[in-house]
Formats: sequence, C-alpha cells, structure tokens
Amino acid sequence: MSIIDDISKIKSNFKSDLDLLNLKKINSDDIKYKYLGRKGLVSNLYSLLSSVDNAEKPLVGKKINQLKLDISDKLNSLSKTRKLDTNKSLDLDYSLPGISYNPGSIHPLTLIIQEIKDIFNKIGFSNIYGSEVDTDYYNFEALNIPKHHPARDMQDTFYLNNHSLLRTHTSSSQVHFMENNNPPIRILSPGRVYRNEDISVRSYCLFHQIEGLYVDKNVSFSDLKGTLEYFAKQFFGPKTKIRFRPSYFPFTEPSAEMDVYWGLNSDSDYRITKGTGWLEILGCGMVNPQVFKSVDYDVKKWNGYAFGLGIERIAMLKYGIDDIRLLYDGNINFLGQFK
Ligand code: PHE
Repeated sequence: MSIIDDISKIKSNFKSDLDLLNLKKINSDDIKYKYLGRKGLVSNLYSLLSSVDNAEKPLVGKKINQLKLDISDKLNSLSKTRKLDTNKSLDLDYSLPGISYNPGSIHPLTLIIQEIKDIFNKIGFSNIYGSEVDTDYYNFEALNIPKHHPARDMQDTFYLNNHSLLRTHTSSSQVHFMENNNPPIRILSPGRVYRNEDISVRSYCLFHQIEGLYVDKNVSFSDLKGTLEYFAKQFFGPKTKIRFRPSYFPFTEPSAEMDVYWGLNSDSDYRITKGTGWLEILGCGMVNPQVFKSVDYDVKKWNGYAFGLGIERIAMLKYGIDDIRLLYDGNINFLGQFK
C-alpha cells in the first residue's frame, strides 16, 4: 500500500474520530496524541518518507505537512469553541434563582389617600397641607372648642408644652387656610393626626384623615350630602349605599356622621363593622358661624360645609387588614402586597 493511501486512510480515520468526539466517546487529548503525538500516526508517516522515490518525495512530503496542519488546525478550533461553550454555560445557568431587586411599593394608606384626592380634585377641590405640630388655638379654640369644653375629652391630646400639641384632627388646617385666604374655598387637606389612645388591633396613637372644606354663598346641607354621595359612589362603586346619622361636633352645626354599607362577606368585615355591615367613615356638617367669626369672615355673606374622613378604616376594609398596627410596622412582606 502506498503512502498516499495511508494519508487518505488517516484522513478518514480522523473524521470518524471527530464524530466520536462529538458523541463524547473519546476526548480531544486522546485524538491529539493519536495523530500528532511523537509516536502518532502523522509522525509515523514522516518516518515512512525515506522509502519513497526521490522524485515523489517533495509532493508526498507536502501532503503529509498539509495533513498535519489540517489536523492541528481542526483540533485547535474545536478546543477554542469548547472553551467558549463552557464559559457561556458558566455565565448563564438558567436553573439558578434570579437576583431579586426589591423595587419597593406604595404604602396602602398612600394609595387610598391618592385615590380620594383624585376623586375630589375632579370636582374642583385642591390639596393643601397643614402642620402636624400646632397650637391649642388652631386645634381647639378657633374651632369653637374652648378650654374645659367636654368635647376635648373626645380627643386625648399629646401636648408638647402649654400651648403646642400634636394635632388631633386635620380640622386645624381649615383655620390656617381661612386665615390666609378669602372665600370661595374648596380644599382638601390630608395628613397625620395623633391621639393618646391605648394601642390595640383597632386603634393606634396616630392615624390619617382627609379634611374637606367648602365655603361659598348659599351652600346647603344637601350640597354636602350630594358631594359625599358622589365620593362614596366613585370610591366604593356605583351601587354603594350610604346613610347619615346626626352627630355633634363643636365646629359644625348641624353635624352628622356618614356610614357606608360594606356588607358582611368576610371575617374582617364582621370585625371592622362590629357585625353591622355599616362602617362609619367620616364626620361632617355645616361650618359653625363661630368658626367663621374666628377667621373674620362675614357670617351673613358666607356659609359652607366641612368633613373629615378617616383613612385607616377605609384601608382596612378595602384590603381586608384586620390589625391596624400592620399599617405602621414597616414590614416589607406585608407592604409588598400593595402595588
Ligand atoms: N374633626 C372631626 C374628627 O376628627 C371630623 C370632622 C371634620 C367633623 C370636619 C366635622 C367636620 O372626628
């Protein structure tokens, strides 16, 4: 058999060895050793060269060189791609759990406040913000609650000193606004309020209210009812039932409280509505002329209504939260549910 036949036989062997390599039946080091090693098939060809006719030597030598080059090129390029493959699979292991970037979420109370602001802003109310630290005058006196008035007992106050306190309701911002602005007025004032109450599932030392104030000429109680009914239907749905119960606040006369019928579909509905299905969500009334007097408004010319919405109860009912303290714990697992 001529050396030329040997060359082509080695070529085809090499091809079938590559197939075996693909099937992972042999490894590339073995192939390299078998063909290019010191005692490998290609080296063996060189030793056979001495028996070739002198005239054919250059041609045969060239062929052997070419074969050696082809084989080593092929093995080199294979090992390169294999390295790439292993790198790739290291970088992208699809079975690993992903890295989670906690994107944060909006607090449920903020969600509710935003929704309520949107509803009232559509009918011309604008937002103002009062301060949480205020004086006895703005929180009580100007709102027709003089010292020793029994209504002060309704609101256990955190006093900071003889005249500063943490506001017990957002009604204090009504007075500030009216002192600095003339009617007509249509404002909404959301924020935190503080009361020194025992902390429990149902009450906390701070909570949120949204105050509404409307002052104009010839404002009637039915304007107030109409506005609050519009709000309830927008917020709780078009079929929502509401009811007004007479109540008492020194700064409104007459006064009322508004309940929304929520129903009794879950345990938390029972607990939060005390088994009635009705939830009191706000206090309201026609602004007492005494309040207008304290801000120097002409009580013959102007009248108006005010309301104060409690946010926590609405949030608890809407989201089925049965412990008010969850709203202040800052527990990410809890808060992350509200998107
Ligand atoms: N400020 C009252 C409260 O905290 C609510 C209220 C606001 C009532 C405005 C009437 C008018 O309970």
